[in-house]
Amino acid sequence: MDTIRMNTGAQIPVLGFGVFRVPEKDVCRQAVLDALRTGYRLIDTAAVYGNEDAVGEAIRQAAEEGICTREEIFLTSKVWVTDMSDYDSVRRAVDASLKKTGVEYFDLYLLHQACNDYFAAWRGMEGAYADGQLRAIGVSNFYPNILTNFCETVKTIPAVNQIELHPYYVQPQALETMAYYGVVPEAWAPLGGGRYDPFHEPVLTAIAEKYGKTVSQVMLRWNVERGVVVIPKSVHRERIEENFRIWDFRLTQEEVEKIATLDMGYTGSRAKHFDPDFVRMVLGKSNA
Ligand SMILES: NC(=O)c1ccc[n+]([C@@H]2O[C@H](COP(=O)([O-])OP(=O)(O)OC[C@H]3O[C@@H](n4cnc5c(N)ncnc54)[C@H](OP(=O)(O)O)[C@@H]3O)[C@@H](O)[C@H]2O)c1
Repeated sequence: MDTIRMNTGAQIPVLGFGVFRVPEKDVCRQAVLDALRTGYRLIDTAAVYGNEDAVGEAIRQAAEEGICTREEIFLTSKVWVTDMSDYDSVRRAVDASLKKTGVEYFDLYLLHQACNDYFAAWRGMEGAYADGQLRAIGVSNFYPNILTNFCETVKTIPAVNQIELHPYYVQPQALETMAYYGVVPEAWAPLGGGRYDPFHEPVLTAIAEKYGKTVSQVMLRWNVERGVVVIPKSVHRERIEENFRIWDFRLTQEEVEKIATLDMGYTGSRAKHFDPDFVRMVLGKSNA
């Protein structure tokens, strides 16, 4: 498995497995177990997904079955915005996440959104990092302007910024900003998150056909070749396996650029972070 070195000195696997919108405990446990069996070693959950406990169960089951140990897994979780009001609320949220998952540390823990008091929240993250509960700390959904201001202000530069990145939302400026500050980019919704119907997109199907691969494999490979960590989600074992088989081909620079022409800019984004209604919804202030 290819890895990228984070600013902590630790390595993050380039391909991981996400569990957003898998609230059913048994389904989540089985999917994570299938992923670990397949060879994934990065698991991405979040407090707000409501499945940290199922992820923890799968990790323990994998250890019992001799698939891999906890130490071989790069485990990520995230603090939700309602716990990002001050130092203490974040420390309590980290404690709760660790307890629910049943682990002693996270390899990476993220501020889930650039909402609420994310500077005070970051100091809580720094505290948990200093205490060894978190081996690396990062952010998510920090757009270039926010990330720049953040990196110019805080003591600890985030190790990772997890943002929406797929061929319909390419975000070149976000990648440039992360490269400038040495922040590892990680793509959420690398397969488009169930939108855009990429599986019938002629640009993608033609490239997939050329290599004897699937559209999903091409989409993942495209981000990996841009230096981006990908964390596709699936609850189907055959897709989990399919999404893992991206190491036996390489796209040409021309193909990488051609795929990027599918970019729809902000229109192509699933989460509307620049929309005040979206921000209020995230903060639980409205039903927008
Ligand atoms: N930080 C954030 O704000 C944020 C936001 C969203 C997501 N995330 C993280 O990023 C991860 C990935 O994002 P995502 O789950 O939104 O979207 P995604 O991984 O881009 O896409 C998942 C969708 O694609 C389907 N799928 C998976 N493999 C497929 C394949 N080989 N062929 C056809 N369809 C396939 C899945 O269906 P089935 O499950 O039915 O197979 C599901 O509907 C999440 O699970 C989560 O860990 C983070």
